Amino acid sequence: MKKTFRQKIITYFTDAAKKSRLLKYPCLAGMSVALVFYYIGMHFLNNGKRYASMLFVAVFFMSSCSFSFAVFAERTGFSSAQETYSAIVETSDVSLAEVEPVNPEVEEILEEGNVVSSEHDVEAETYTLDDLLAQHHEHDPNAEPHEDYVQTASKTGAGTDAERTFDSSDWSLVLINKQHPIPDDYDFKLGTFKSGMRCDERVIEDLLLMMQAAKNDGLNLVVRSPYRTSDHQEDNFNDRIKSYMRQGASYMEAYKATSTVITVPGCSEHEVGLALDITSDTYIPLQQGFAETKEGKWLEEHSHEYGFILRYPSGKEYITGIEYEPWHFRYVGREAAATMKNEGLCLEEFWDKYL
Ligand code: DAL
Ligand code: ZN
Repeated sequence: MKKTFRQKIITYFTDAAKKSRLLKYPCLAGMSVALVFYYIGMHFLNNGKRYASMLFVAVFFMSSCSFSFAVFAERTGFSSAQETYSAIVETSDVSLAEVEPVNPEVEEILEEGNVVSSEHDVEAETYTLDDLLAQHHEHDPNAEPHEDYVQTASKTGAGTDAERTFDSSDWSLVLINKQHPIPDDYDFKLGTFKSGMRCDERVIEDLLLMMQAAKNDGLNLVVRSPYRTSDHQEDNFNDRIKSYMRQGASYMEAYKATSTVITVPGCSEHEVGLALDITSDTYIPLQQGFAETKEGKWLEEHSHEYGFILRYPSGKEYITGIEYEPWHFRYVGREAAATMKNEGLCLEEFWDKYL
């Protein structure tokens, strides 16, 4: 009868051991090692299909993952994600999604102006300063419109960057992004205007001061999207995915494109009332063109004086994971905002350096 491979291994080492006593133990060890490899090999041979499909799923998942910037950079031919984003910013106005390798039908969907358009373009919320001041806040029924906001406000964070110290437990500095979901124990109180506009009540005074200061400079800012519930964030996210899929994108392609413009539910600063989308009465949509308007430029230059930062700056997409959003302002307090503005830091970089 023909010997199996296993029997051949045993016979080979047994015969060798018989030739000399000295070879007994080395042969025993050699036989054990050979048998171990034999059994491992047989295991993979017998389960080949299973391992091949696991490998396929793992490779597919890694190459499709929306957070894998390394893969993204490699695919687009740049040596690092930083270079990729810098090149996009320097060479054109195209959106991040446009350079992602997707199928031809999806490329059409991801054209400029489509992906970068409003994160909430289905919403019709717009609140001018007059809308807000004309109404009493629920959190303070006796509040009167503040005509002297700008006069009484100290316009910048106190001290120089070097003198300021920051506390990681400060509510206004909470880091919320795809990697840092809203903490379970995060507590906040919403201030609600009669018009329905809501945000963290601790932000209201600086928000009104900022809008009043802009108005004094002849510019009418408009709050487009303040606080939103987690359900609302989820609806926004899913609606955007569905919209891309209706136009031919696969689920993974649609998810990827969506997550660069709308934060995954549970990870949005809008869900804690610290972020406000702000444009103007002459340029309502949430689109990158807002950056070129007088109001967009004014906000970029002055928002830090009132404790707000442009949260998703151009050139920092590889850190924030979100497209340039010249309309999305996040309250961090005046001192932190001044430091971030002076040092050109986004919130993630600020945390790395100071907290
Ligand atoms: N558009 C920002 C990233 C959000 O959805 O929170
Ligand atoms: Zn926003």
